[in-house]
Amino acid sequence: MTTVAVAGGTGTVGRPVVARLQALGHDARVLSRAEGVDLVAGPGVDLRGVDAVIDVSNVTTLSARRSTAFFETATRTLLDAGRRDGVRHHVALSIVGIEAAPGGYYAGKLAQERAVRAGSVPWSILRATQFHEFAAQTVRQTAIGPVVLVPRMRTQPVSTRELAVALVDLALGDPVGDDGELAGPREERLADMVRAYVGATRRGGRVLEVPFPGRFGRAMARGELLPDPGARLGRQTFTEWLEHPDT
Ligand SMILES: NC(=O)c1ccc[n+]([C@@H]2O[C@H](COP(=O)([O-])OP(=O)(O)OC[C@H]3O[C@@H](n4cnc5c(N)ncnc54)[C@H](OP(=O)(O)O)[C@@H]3O)[C@@H](O)[C@H]2O)c1
Repeated sequence: MTTVAVAGGTGTVGRPVVARLQALGHDARVLSRAEGVDLVAGPGVDLRGVDAVIDVSNVTTLSARRSTAFFETATRTLLDAGRRDGVRHHVALSIVGIEAAPGGYYAGKLAQERAVRAGSVPWSILRATQFHEFAAQTVRQTAIGPVVLVPRMRTQPVSTRELAVALVDLALGDPVGDDGELAGPREERLADMVRAYVGATRRGGRVLEVPFPGRFGRAMARGELLPDPGARLGRQTFTEWLEHPDT
């Protein structure tokens, strides 16, 4: 049995990661504020007995300053403890295409990748595209009354269950450094995803597609956040996920 600490193990991708580890008979140790571990404001973290760390912690912000502060501090907390306590593998989840829009939230993801690469715990980084759940996250973040404003975006969303399988496989193996990209099987338009989600959940309201300003907006609209041709592709489409969200 391998002991794996899952930073952010209560989150959107953290939950299926923990479920996958447990289904394989491994010991999953959840690190999150709800479990009494604050990776940013806390005194540090105890990783004694932990073989590998999967970092799927997150902060919800568009601010480069807040994102960078979160990901740098959380990563440093995990790597300091990992070095001290003999963790043999640090796995970080990053996002496809972050160089195309290096400001805002992605500034933090770039800072996280730099910290992991420069750290002294052997590492792997997997970059994924947006999750199928991104449609719901968009509604939560951009709804103004009955109107949902959706940025113009080309995306190739992936199943968090399939992503969890890939992250756990990665963590149980030897560190590989950059592990490339994982994407879903089909390109979608975010506005179509949100319309389908709003219809399926009977939430009601109007979905308006709008251009998102700045470099991030251009990158989203032009498809610069789509995977490279060599990316590994999952199987479950967004439509299949919407019909069976738990599978
Ligand atoms: N969303 C996407 O489409 C997407 C696509 C590709 C990659 N990613 C990456 O996937 C990762 C996970 O994203 P997600 O959407 O699954 O996140 P999420 O649902 O927002 O969950 C965030 C997790 O982080 C924990 N957390 C937040 N602040 C913390 C702190 N100070 N100390 C300890 N734990 C903390 C939260 O638990 P508590 O609140 O209990 O602390 C929660 O378990 C992120 O690195 C993100 O960049 C996301």
